Amino acid sequence: MSINKCNCKNAKHIEVEHIQTDDVQVVVNLYRKSFRNHFLGHMGQRFLTLFVSEFVNSTDNFGYVAWLKNEAVGFILATTTDTIFRKFYRKNFRVLVLITMYRYFHDPFIRKHIGKRFGHIYTALKALFSFSPRHVNDHKQQEKSRTLVTSRILAIAVDKHYRGLGVASELTSQFCKEMKAKGFKEVGLSTLPWNRRAIGFYKKDGWIEEKSNETSVYFFRIL
Ligand SMILES: CC(C)(COP(=O)(O)OP(=O)(O)OC[C@H]1O[C@@H](n2cnc3c(N)ncnc32)[C@H](O)[C@@H]1OP(=O)(O)O)[C@@H](O)C(=O)NCCC(=O)NCCS
Repeated sequence: MSINKCNCKNAKHIEVEHIQTDDVQVVVNLYRKSFRNHFLGHMGQRFLTLFVSEFVNSTDNFGYVAWLKNEAVGFILATTTDTIFRKFYRKNFRVLVLITMYRYFHDPFIRKHIGKRFGHIYTALKALFSFSPRHVNDHKQQEKSRTLVTSRILAIAVDKHYRGLGVASELTSQFCKEMKAKGFKEVGLSTLPWNRRAIGFYKKDGWIEEKSNETSVYFFRIL
């Protein structure tokens, strides 16, 4: 079902829709093309298919795809829970271990950067061995960072041939509209400090920088 239509700078018609099962592969392909310099972009088709599927018909996760005529030109993956990775790892633990091992031996990028992902490996192991659900509204967690407890974008990308046309801002406005309707007062995201174009886009798009460290810049947007 189409949930938005717009006229972009070049009067091209963009439609933003929720990701459906049939769209998973096109989103995976866009993900791989757009995130060549990111860890998950190197995790391969199978991993990304499992991951993107988490955003189809979910109550906690939200996926949007931007269409120009019949071509997928951008997407957003977002979540309203901080247990998304925990659930994902628990559900797919065995296959994820096999995929990670395979990628480790076949992709030098994964070998080089896996050290920075130990937090995720720890989360995966915790997810497997612990059966008590974590309290998402834990007070200390809320104090640590507002971006951890609000609805947040995990990934946004626009096909490089369609950047600068307003596609990304159509995607964020559709996401923000839906989150506002669900009662959220703000949304968050983070990006890598070297991602100057993404940071430029977020500032232009009404996001406010909350904090930054060596690995991430955190933004929030009031709805
Ligand atoms: C981030 C992304 C979704 C933004 O979409 P976009 O279509 O490029 O966004 P826009 O062109 O509307 O806005 C980008 C803004 O960043 C700034 N910008 C553009 N190129 C830039 C550059 N090389 N360096 C710094 N800032 C730049 C400008 O302010 C620009 O807006 P303007 O041209 O209207 O002045 C897109 O660039 C993308 O898919 N990048 C790869 C994936 C990614 O890194 N995603 C974010 C991490 S989750």
